[in-house]
Amino acid sequence: MANVLGAISTSHVPAIGGAIAKGLQQDPYFKPFFDGFPPVHAWLAKARPDVVVVFYNDHGLNFFLDKLPTFAVGAAPEYRNADEGWGIPTLRPFGGDPELSWHLIDSLVAAEFDITMCQEMLVDHALTLPMALLWPGGGEWPVRIVPIAMNHVQHPLPSLRRSYHLGQTVGRALDAWDADARVLVLGTGGLSHQLDGERAGFINKPFDLMCMDALVGDPERLTRLSTRELVREAGAQGTELMTWVAARGALTGAVTKVHSTYHIPISNTAAALMVLENHAQTVARVRAA
Ligand code: DHB
Ligand code: FE
Repeated sequence: MANVLGAISTSHVPAIGGAIAKGLQQDPYFKPFFDGFPPVHAWLAKARPDVVVVFYNDHGLNFFLDKLPTFAVGAAPEYRNADEGWGIPTLRPFGGDPELSWHLIDSLVAAEFDITMCQEMLVDHALTLPMALLWPGGGEWPVRIVPIAMNHVQHPLPSLRRSYHLGQTVGRALDAWDADARVLVLGTGGLSHQLDGERAGFINKPFDLMCMDALVGDPERLTRLSTRELVREAGAQGTELMTWVAARGALTGAVTKVHSTYHIPISNTAAALMVLENHAQTVARVRAA
């Protein structure tokens, strides 16, 4: 049985990639954001994941408006980054885990999620930057990945309720995966931000803090928000919260918060970071007792 260690959620603003490339981690503008990560690195050193399931949203690199799956699961042996036009360097390829990909695809389709399966998939800044934040310094990535892309580009978007159920189905599939593997779940995006239109620059700190709090102990609360309410409260791109909700859904055990930070702004975004630990074994032991 695989061991689901926990979930990390973090923002994925392209400016972070620029800061990494230029070594601006100590720059006063970026320092409060980067300072959130050493405790996460310490937690990762203890958790030692082998594989990361990444809930993220593609911004037009792999999928565009002509063909846009609601949910797409990667099933490739390798995933490459490519130039998106932000002026940030493309990162080295990521190794995949096709066995886990197909296990998740089987489980999702059995649970009536009509997902798109991708045996080739480019991964954009929403996947690459969080990976570079978690494992800085270059060299071989120490983990394999399974990317799960969620549509936040073309309405109608998947609801937070559906995103949570997606995560729960992935979590149950991970628990049932017959592999001696240590699994981390990653959700990337948000929190509140709007990049264009009349409300460009919109940020809602009270709403973000409510979401971060609810994600720890009461994620169901967020599933009661409609997409319209989410756009109103979090901005058009704040809908990326769906990836945090999916990642939280994948934790089937008792959940404790290890670490979180919240900083306004990085570029146009309320930049947040959270580490939740999953105590699956504890739950199983309590149930067995
Ligand atoms: C920004 C935020 C995003 O989530 C993104 O995908 C691109 C840009 C920003 O704040 O600039
Ligand atoms: Fe984004």
